Amino acid sequence: MTIIQTHALTKTYGKGDIEVRALDGVDVQINENEFVAIMGPSGSGKSTLMNILGCLDRPTSGQYILAGEAVSGLDKAQLAHIRSKRLGFIFQAYNLLARTTALENVLLPLLYSRNGTHTDAEKRQIALDALASVGLSDRAHHQPHELSGGQQQRVAIARALINDPVLILADEPTGNLDTRSSHDIMNLLHDLHDRGRTIVMVTHENDIAAHASRVIHFRDGKIDADVQNGHRAEDGRPKTEDGGWETEDKAPPSSVSRHLPSQR
Ligand SMILES: Nc1ncnc2c1ncn2[C@@H]1O[C@H](COP(=O)(O)OP(=O)(O)OP(=O)(O)O)[C@@H](O)[C@H]1O
Ligand SMILES: [Mg+2]
Repeated sequence: MTIIQTHALTKTYGKGDIEVRALDGVDVQINENEFVAIMGPSGSGKSTLMNILGCLDRPTSGQYILAGEAVSGLDKAQLAHIRSKRLGFIFQAYNLLARTTALENVLLPLLYSRNGTHTDAEKRQIALDALASVGLSDRAHHQPHELSGGQQQRVAIARALINDPVLILADEPTGNLDTRSSHDIMNLLHDLHDRGRTIVMVTHENDIAAHASRVIHFRDGKIDADVQNGHRAEDGRPKTEDGGWETEDKAPPSSVSRHLPSQR
């Protein structure tokens, strides 16, 4: 199934002499369960693309179809609804609410989503399960300033998963982390990918991009190269004959992932 389809996507900022074409006719298709890294120089349009894919912004022209739904023409309220229903975000700066516990941060998307199918107690349990899935059961009642950077990013990942999103968007998710914490975050993204999630991740680092199965390079608002990765970094999993990775019939790679809900 196609999760993302864009046609001639453009985004321009400003007018006349100061016009900036941040995106200049981007055609891209991303299928269910792809793990895509977006790379490119500073200012090449990566975050602009992520904002549009994440329904945080609208293109100047062109089309964006998300999981079969044409979203480029929707208004702000409709975009907000799609964000809360279908998308999970992981940013470089974590974007957690200060003076708010890990548990409450994870709960937020459930409070905003208007599906009345869960009681408050059930929502709380879902949030606790999500924190367990990232190995943070014992930090549920800590506030962000009481957590390390890696732990804060894991809270952000738990929050991104809470609505069982069809698409996870990560803009430099390891940009502020040390090597060890980056490794933990990449392991979590691998687990999510193995469980059927679709992931689009911006990174400046080659070793982080090597974790993805496909790398799209941007330059001046255009796709410069689009390559399938032949290997995965720091991953001992054998490659199958068709070039895919043997992930079926295997236990999840870490105990942490056992709590993760599987993709519907
Ligand atoms: N709100 C805005 N108003 C005007 N110009 C903007 C705005 N946002 C982005 N731009 C311009 O659009 C271009 C693309 O920006 P974008 O943030 O997408 O780059 P990027 O690839 O994410 O870069 P980086 O790697 O530095 O994060 C840049 O030239 C930037 O200056
Ligand atoms: Mg950026």
